[in-house]
Amino acid sequence: MILRNIGTLARCRPSGGQNELHLIHDAAVVWRGSCISWVGTEKEIPKEFRDDPSLDARRALVIPGLIDCHTHLAFGGWRADEFEQRMLGVTYQEIAAKGGGILSTVRATRGESEDGLYERAYKNLNEMVQLGVTTVECKSGYGLTWEDELKLLQVYRRLREDHPCDIISTFLGAHTIPLEYRENRGEYVRRICEEMIPEVAERRLAEFCDVFLEKGAFSFDEAETILREGVACGLTPKIHADQMSNGRGAHLAAQLRAASADHLEYIDEEGISALAEKKVVAVALPFATLYTKGPPLPARALIEAGVRVAVATDFNPGTAPSYHLPMALLLSCTLYGLTPHEALKGATCFAAAALGRDDLGSIRVGGGADLAVIDAESVNQWIYHLRPNACVGTIKNGKVLHQSGSWLQ
Ligand code: NIG
Ligand code: FE
Repeated sequence: MILRNIGTLARCRPSGGQNELHLIHDAAVVWRGSCISWVGTEKEIPKEFRDDPSLDARRALVIPGLIDCHTHLAFGGWRADEFEQRMLGVTYQEIAAKGGGILSTVRATRGESEDGLYERAYKNLNEMVQLGVTTVECKSGYGLTWEDELKLLQVYRRLREDHPCDIISTFLGAHTIPLEYRENRGEYVRRICEEMIPEVAERRLAEFCDVFLEKGAFSFDEAETILREGVACGLTPKIHADQMSNGRGAHLAAQLRAASADHLEYIDEEGISALAEKKVVAVALPFATLYTKGPPLPARALIEAGVRVAVATDFNPGTAPSYHLPMALLLSCTLYGLTPHEALKGATCFAAAALGRDDLGSIRVGGGADLAVIDAESVNQWIYHLRPNACVGTIKNGKVLHQSGSWLQ
């Protein structure tokens, strides 16, 4: 298949800085099966491909299929009532201390069946596809008993089998201390380490192990114990780090050579150097900053230090109730000062790096044909305009999953 008549192609290769998108104008992409066989200007399409069937991009912008590298995709219920409270001035932490927040979603999730959670997650994924998303990282963490964590991880396993998107699972049993262990948190940490992590790894239910390191959630030492156990069992660490206070989460991520440190609104200079030195990807989550009225991530300082900054939605019912990744890209510009080019690199090949997946997130020969076709003349125009139906085509592993109107005909 040839996708021809591309106005601008943003290849987003791993090399170069945060703003280097490896653009080609008047471009074409050729794939056979699920794999890209050729990329270049339309004029130069080699003879051997010229008679392949083709799709017309109608001068659109074509980018790699977007990667949402941090979501809590499956959960029960919503928390719109808490949103109202927060707008009236009650803080996220105050709500959590009263048994709301994460625990309220834990109650709702425990009350849902695996099938119910699966159906809802599947529908949400389909809407993400319409925005150009082709890969989604999904965290457990709203079960907090083995049975309920397993239920969430099984949902992700089924999605991995049934849904055309790439689904990457993360075990987040250490999201918060469940109510029944509030007086005995050591026992919950022990259960995570001795009972849950080995089972998750043995049954290959997740690739990553994540911890919410924060006051009211897990301490530095607890996080270290849990993540080290994960490493011992073959799960790569990720951390919800320095989101609402500086808990030295970036340092722990660097020490453990985590795949990513996520949030980081309260990271300090030493934390930035630590991430840079150990090449840990920083994951910016602007919806969470916006909804919690947090301070901005020092994105410019991170980039200048040489840290790759990924951008994701953090989709969850508390701090980020939206899976609109293009909007997260816009917010990473307005809140953190990224440019649209830098933001796009953060939701393509740097997001792939946060998932340890070099095979994803860029348009190159030998890579999967994961593409989003955007009706905009440039990356700047696309992000700045934030037009609701800008994504007119989504292609995953060479198959068209979404197309609007007469595009791509
Ligand atoms: O990534 N920070 C911790 N976890 C989520 C929020 C979860 C919730 O409020 O339900 C986050 O922001
Ligand atoms: Fe999160």
